[in-house]
Order: sequence, then C-alpha cells, then structure tokens
Amino acid sequence: MTVVDLALATPLTSQLRATQLTAMLDDDERARADHFHHHDDRLLYITAHALTRLVLTRRRPSVDPSAWRFSVGPWGRPHPINAETGELRCNLSHTRGMTAVAVTEGTDVGVDVEWIRPDDWIFDTAPTVFSAAEVDSLGSLGNDERRDRFFLYWTLKESYIKARGRGVSLPLTLISFARSVGEQVTLDLDPSLGDDASSWAFATFRPSTDVRGAVAVRAPSIELELSWPDVA
Ligand SMILES: CC(C)(COP(=O)(O)OP(=O)(O)OC[C@H]1O[C@@H](n2cnc3c(N)ncnc32)[C@H](O)[C@@H]1OP(=O)(O)O)[C@@H](O)C(=O)NCCC(=O)NCCS
Repeated sequence: MTVVDLALATPLTSQLRATQLTAMLDDDERARADHFHHHDDRLLYITAHALTRLVLTRRRPSVDPSAWRFSVGPWGRPHPINAETGELRCNLSHTRGMTAVAVTEGTDVGVDVEWIRPDDWIFDTAPTVFSAAEVDSLGSLGNDERRDRFFLYWTLKESYIKARGRGVSLPLTLISFARSVGEQVTLDLDPSLGDDASSWAFATFRPSTDVRGAVAVRAPSIELELSWPDVA
C-alpha cells in the first residue's frame, strides 16, 4: 500500500498573508506570481506554491519552507532538488477555489483538482480529450451524472499524465478510464504508450461540492492521508 500525503487548501483571501507567503517563494515563483493579471489567479498560485513548500518541510523538517529549490523536467514538471530530498516526489494542482499537493516517497505521483464547471459546452470537447469508450459511457447518462463522470475521467486522466511528468504531450484519447463500482475505476492504455496500466493505482476525492480531485501513483494500491494545513 502506497501512502500519499494529500494536502488541500482553499485560496488565500488576505493580501497581507499573501505578501507574507510570497517571501517564502523563490525568484522564479515570485516573477510568475507577479505576471498574473487577475488578483484571484495570483492568490491561487501563491497558495499552491506555499502549500507545496510547507508540505515538503513537513516531510523533511530540516529544510526551511523558503529553502526548497526545484528543477523543471522536459515537459514542465517541477522536482525538489535539495540534498535532503532523497526519494521525495511531489505534484501540485490548482483550480477555482482549491489547491492540492500530493507527496510520496520513491514513486511517481500526480494530482489534479478541477472546478466542476456548470457550462454545457464542455461536453463538446469530449471527443478531443476522451477515448471512444469514455465518450460512449458519457452519452448514456443524464446531464448531472454526465457532468460528474466527465470530471471524474478528466481528473483521473490529468493525474495520470502529471504522474508520468509528460503533461499533454501524451495523447489523451489513448488513455481510457471506466468506472466499475462507486468511485472504483479501471485504466486501459493503448499499447503505443508503452506503459502497463496495471502498475498504477488511483484515488478520487471531493474537497467541496463543486470540485473533484484525483491522485495517481505508480504502485499496486493507494491510500490517501488527507490534511488541510493552515495556510491562511
Ligand atoms: C501539466 C498539465 C497537464 C496540468 O494542467 P492543469 O490541469 O491546467 O493544471 P494543474 O493546476 O493541475 O497543474 C499545474 C501544475 O502542475 C505542475 N506541472 C507542470 N507541468 C507538469 C508536467 N509535465 N507533469 C506534471 N506536473 C506538471 C506544475 O507545478 C504546475 O503548477 P504551476 O504552473 O503553478 O507551476 C498542463 O500541462 C496542461 O497542459 N493542461 C492541459 C489541460 C487539458 O487539456 N486537459 C485535458 C485533460 S482531460
């Protein structure tokens, strides 16, 4: 059983606290935070990146939150590179109203949170991001269930491509989820992806009524250890 440390936080609302936490970020993060046009996007970014540092320090208390340094992989995945990092892996996600950070030791991890958009145009995008089997299963559902299933598949798919570190360089329609019982899911991967679907475990979570989340780990099974660190 692989335990994933999953930390969640709602975005900061206090400008004073945002200024305090910005001091914890590195120069690159501060520059990116400064580039957001919308205040809410800036607060979301600062929350997610401060949360990541706080959670990493929880696992490696000898490293101050402001001392974490990251390298960025070929497809954009940040990885902590401090000497104390060892086998520590992390991944962050942010969406309207929610930030999430997943941390593991020694195995790839990906996390995704998505605001469940109320718009119907999202269904038009299904054929470009979902497999034929996923699109079929959406078609048989009523509107509310279809929306929920859409975001179930979406978050699972994103958690997988993020755990691989490849982002959307992986062809999304070749990654196919099916729901079995309750929130239990199965994964089917096209052979061209060169990966074994049975080597992955997934867990889903609902941090609020309008946000869905999923975590992927390369492991036989997964257990989420959920926390809400006090960031605000
Ligand atoms: C990585 C990616 C997949 C995540 O996108 P997203 O869901 O919009 O954003 P999230 O908030 O979940 O994750 C962003 C974080 O993931 C991390 N990240 C970036 N590239 C990554 C990669 N290749 N692998 C893993 N993590 C990555 C970063 O920490 C990033 O945060 P930052 O920008 O604040 O530094 C993005 O590259 C992307 O292209 N998204 C396209 C969305 C899409 O079409 N999805 C269809 C799925 S059905």
